[in-house]
Amino acid sequence: MAPLLDDLLKVLSFQSISTDSAYEKEVKKNAEWLHQKLSGIGLNSEIYQTARHPIVLAKNEHLEGRVNVMLYGHYDVQPVDPLELWDTPPFEPTIKNDKIYARGATDNKGQHMAHLKAIEQLITEDGELPVNLTILLEGEEEIGSPNLVPFLEEHKESIPADVIIVSDTGMVAPQTGTLGYGLRGIICCEVLLDGPSGDQHSGVIGGSIANPATEIARLVSSLHEEDGRVAIEGFYDDVEPLAEWERKMWKDIPDMDEKTWLKLTGAPNLHGETGYTTSERLWARPTAEVNGIGGGYQGEGSKTVLPAKAFCKLSFRLVPNQEPDKVFENIRAHLEKYASPNVKITVQKGHGGHPYRSDPHDSFGKIAQKSLEEVFRKEPVLIREGGSIPIIGDFKKILGADTLMLGLALPDAQIHAPNENFPIENFVKGVELGKAILNNLGSMKK
Ligand code: BES
Ligand code: MN
Repeated sequence: MAPLLDDLLKVLSFQSISTDSAYEKEVKKNAEWLHQKLSGIGLNSEIYQTARHPIVLAKNEHLEGRVNVMLYGHYDVQPVDPLELWDTPPFEPTIKNDKIYARGATDNKGQHMAHLKAIEQLITEDGELPVNLTILLEGEEEIGSPNLVPFLEEHKESIPADVIIVSDTGMVAPQTGTLGYGLRGIICCEVLLDGPSGDQHSGVIGGSIANPATEIARLVSSLHEEDGRVAIEGFYDDVEPLAEWERKMWKDIPDMDEKTWLKLTGAPNLHGETGYTTSERLWARPTAEVNGIGGGYQGEGSKTVLPAKAFCKLSFRLVPNQEPDKVFENIRAHLEKYASPNVKITVQKGHGGHPYRSDPHDSFGKIAQKSLEEVFRKEPVLIREGGSIPIIGDFKKILGADTLMLGLALPDAQIHAPNENFPIENFVKGVELGKAILNNLGSMKK
């Protein structure tokens, strides 16, 4: 087993945290390693510097008459904090109970390295690949891929794609082949409320001016109706209703039941928009979430202060056909309308991305289903995703191709959290799947 995992264990030791400039060299080391690896297995690989983190682009020899396939992955990872909650160091990959524990184990190093291993094995066994392949590995996915769109615009002529393969999404349950055919979009923003010019005594002054912490709480609670719907005017205007075939299909998906979901999350109860099941709420309905809220004294004991400022960080998950920019204007209007006139409000727009949906039953979707069935030996489940990979919508716009999302991330993989892990079994199946999909795409007629 060990040689199969060597490359993955190596890349998991790079501290490729894209958001924190202190790790810039580590991100670069990871990119260099991938570039050497891809060159080493006989591909024509190049590293492109961007304004921030490098992009690695590698190709085999492209021949007339074969399907053009693009494989995408990201080698950057999320920060590791809170570090004290990790049982083993995040950048010293550790195997326990047949799982690899490390930051990036599932999101996304384990998943793209399985495909690279598949490609290496195909080249070793058959001398060449069955398709015209372009591999694109970026180092900025976790910060919203700011440099990838301009890169694609500039290089689209040299990135031929009839179809795109990505393993960076969920597998609903162990050993259950999962084809993702949709993603939610996202729009993020920060809201700052300014009250008095400095912190005030909550007795001497309190009661005579507005408290920004109280007002941020009021603002946050204005975001939802009692029934869980988002209360922003116009928010649902462009939401495409859930199709009957999807509702029916999602009813039977394993491990999406109440009991499993409560166990997975540790929450005391389920909660969401009335009238929808958990899968429907996650995959086909938009949301408003508070990612952070603060202001005032956070230390031990009490402090009688009326804080000068308070803030919240919000993100909204979007579904087809919501437009992030348009939704943001509705959000801004809502926040400005509901904020107390007795504080000053600033709304700052953060990063965003379009929702995405493709047809899981078109000719490429069928090939994906067949490949999943070959590897997992049962009919795959077809899902949309609650998470976002904004670049996938841009691929469609710029390269004109749909993406097959062959998810290998289990619900308990702890991505973005302490003790992120990836079962060795998923890596092994990922290698098989990587070979199956390329072979099956290779046998398609052009
Ligand atoms: N791989 C995830 C997205 C994901 C995970 C989709 C599991 C489906 C199932 C990706 O790396 C990610 O974390 N995306 C961010 C995007 C954001 C930074 C723009 C997200 O969804 O929050
Ligand atoms: Mn991620």
